[in-house]
Amino acid sequence: MKGIVLAAGSGTRLYPSTIAISKQLLPIYDKPMIYYPISVLMLAGIKDILIITTPQDIENFKKLLGDGSQFGINFTYKIQNSPDGIAQALTLGEDFIKNEPCALILGDNIFYGPGFTGMLKNAAKNAKKGFTTIFAHQVKNPERFGIVEFDNNKCIKSIVEKPKKPKTNYAVTGLYFYDKNAAKYAKTLKPSKRGELEITDLNNIYLNKKTLKVEILGRGFTWLDTGLPKALLDAGSYIRAIEENQGIKIACLEEIALRMGFLNKSSINKTLKHYPDNDYYNYVKEVLNSYS
Ligand code: DAU
Repeated sequence: MKGIVLAAGSGTRLYPSTIAISKQLLPIYDKPMIYYPISVLMLAGIKDILIITTPQDIENFKKLLGDGSQFGINFTYKIQNSPDGIAQALTLGEDFIKNEPCALILGDNIFYGPGFTGMLKNAAKNAKKGFTTIFAHQVKNPERFGIVEFDNNKCIKSIVEKPKKPKTNYAVTGLYFYDKNAAKYAKTLKPSKRGELEITDLNNIYLNKKTLKVEILGRGFTWLDTGLPKALLDAGSYIRAIEENQGIKIACLEEIALRMGFLNKSSINKTLKHYPDNDYYNYVKEVLNSYS
């Protein structure tokens, strides 16, 4: 199974903070934003990850993430020249996906909650069997999102992108597990009224084929999209509160690599030699020391 992180876009809502740096490289408390979506793909067991970004930001992403070997995974990079729609990630990634199932995650989405790893593994399994999974979460402002409507059996009846009169407040989050046909179907999409290749249109193709599943992320689950200055601060404070309270780190990629069996202790120890002695370094050291 392949994974794509879509980290292009112009970040205009965060100007001037995003003039010189990509939004997805800004810190969310103690690590760059893109660590969070990468951690989700790793927890799903995905080791081949395509990072899609802008021409001006690609070198910075490479500087941060390299080839991925420090986390026991492989990064490939691709440019999206202009933000022509989220579904374009699948056509840009066609050669990378090579007819395999593929998970797509938006580079500014943060997920945290109980049972998530199990849900991810399940979605990956279902994608291999020809089913696509999307994840829905309740929001206060449904007119800003792709919104799902359910029938009495909790099956999806429709998905509408940014409805003026939303029928529910269940938003489609920026995480999608597709079967092997995603690039093929994405190529058939036409730009919407706002000029974008809409991910909702792609999801509706699967809905019409009756191969779309929706996982509801319940009330105890946190989903944050970090596109606005306030949301960025809120996300940082949230991560800090959990990490300080529990003494764990969210989206520590070295820890996930170890726990997923992507790397062993000695390879992580070698990488650690290049890290400065700080809180992040000490955390990874502690994880290694207590791991048996
Ligand atoms: O966050 C979940 C929502 O994401 C879904 O509920 C919607 O169905 C989906 O359309 C999308 O809505 P947004 O209005 O949040 O999409 P936005 O244009 O803000 O893009 C989301 C992220 O993807 C943002 O970080 C920029 C990046 N992006 C976006 C587009 C359109 C790209 O990298 N390339 C693109 O072409």
